[in-house]
Amino acid sequence: MTVNTSDLFPKFTATLSQATPRLPPGELLAFVKHHFDRRHLYLGVLDDHPAPLYLQESAVLRQRAQQLKQAFRAVLPVVSFYYAVKSNNQPDISRILLASEFGLDVSSGLELEMALSLGARDIVFSGPAKTAAELRLAAAHADRVVILMDSFGELQRLEAIAAAINRQVRCGVRLTVNTEGLWRKFGIPPETLPAFWQEARRCDHIHLEGLQFHSSWNLSPDNQIAFIRRLGGVLADLPPADRAEIEFIDIGGGYWPAQGEWLQPAATPRGQLLAALGEPPGPLETHHRLPATPIEVFADRIAAAIHQHLFSALACRICLEPGRWVCNDAVHLLMSVVDKKAPDLVITDAGTNAVGWERFESDYFPVLNLSRPALAEKPCHILGSLCTPHDVWGWLYFGADIQPGDILMIPTQGAYTYSLRQNFIKPLPAVLTI
Ligand SMILES: Cc1ncc(COP(=O)(O)O)c(C=O)c1O
Repeated sequence: MTVNTSDLFPKFTATLSQATPRLPPGELLAFVKHHFDRRHLYLGVLDDHPAPLYLQESAVLRQRAQQLKQAFRAVLPVVSFYYAVKSNNQPDISRILLASEFGLDVSSGLELEMALSLGARDIVFSGPAKTAAELRLAAAHADRVVILMDSFGELQRLEAIAAAINRQVRCGVRLTVNTEGLWRKFGIPPETLPAFWQEARRCDHIHLEGLQFHSSWNLSPDNQIAFIRRLGGVLADLPPADRAEIEFIDIGGGYWPAQGEWLQPAATPRGQLLAALGEPPGPLETHHRLPATPIEVFADRIAAAIHQHLFSALACRICLEPGRWVCNDAVHLLMSVVDKKAPDLVITDAGTNAVGWERFESDYFPVLNLSRPALAEKPCHILGSLCTPHDVWGWLYFGADIQPGDILMIPTQGAYTYSLRQNFIKPLPAVLTI
């Protein structure tokens, strides 16, 4: 397709003049103060366990689990919670959540093996293109695992595997939320559900009893609600005998933490366009925030849609698979300054292989100097020790000064960091759970 560049001009000027909301300074200071107020706890840990560390706070994790359960239990009659292991696969996190009445949502044989080894008794296994070995492992533990099938082909492969070991397997099927683009790889198109149900009926070892869908990165429940409405239509078209067999609907995860998405100028539409033009994306002291909906509002609005569109057709258990919302705030990175190469340039012992991607070039998180706390943010390049310039923690820090030996903290790094860590150049931080 050829693009007429003059047609793009209005979009170009609109993007340049578009302002992404700012992170309110009062909210940022309250966040920083909350963590500085706990600095003796964090620094005390380092007496026995030197930096760098992933510091996991079990009390925070338990509190988040409790708050999420309360929010959804208040508005839905029967609801189960499955922690999405992929969001942080450190075993202590899953262990703590199992003790908080969560089951586990796994997406691979590796995650399933971990869940089984932790003694999980209520596991859902979803994900595209499960291998024969993965299906065999799941079928062999059919008393503990519900397999969320991803395609007609997987249905046939699973039937053959379950028949070979003579096991009945409890299953659900994942529905595609967006049949266009890259999300089409997940699940079956919703309109094929009646055909899928018929085919599953012909499989002697498959007990199809539920549906699953998942949409990601939701700052508000709008996407989930839109699909619930669509699912209502799909259920209306399903023969009543099939509908009567639905014991659960798994509505996935994708709840954004209430503090919202904090961005560097380079990650805003305007910043991206400026960067493409070779211009600086914006002042680094400016922090942006896309606001997110509190979990209680997610729960209220999603439950209202479920009552209206799903419970009018059937009564069943609702399952959730939250990852990010539960683990994000429970893990912090602690590291120390090794080298001060200029008044505004320090290098830390940890590198961003600890988070596995160039997160802080797009996401903003404050860097806190626990050794010299101050509620003022100062410019200084805070870089990791990997041999790549894309090893950035931040361009500013909160503190009175910064010197070699100082302990720095980047709070709330629990989601999609540890699971993505890379065995790259430097050793990874140790994990400590308090
Ligand atoms: C099927 C499924 N369920 C749950 C999740 C967890 O999502 P989140 O961490 O955004 O809550 C994911 C994340 O990719 C997923 O793919």
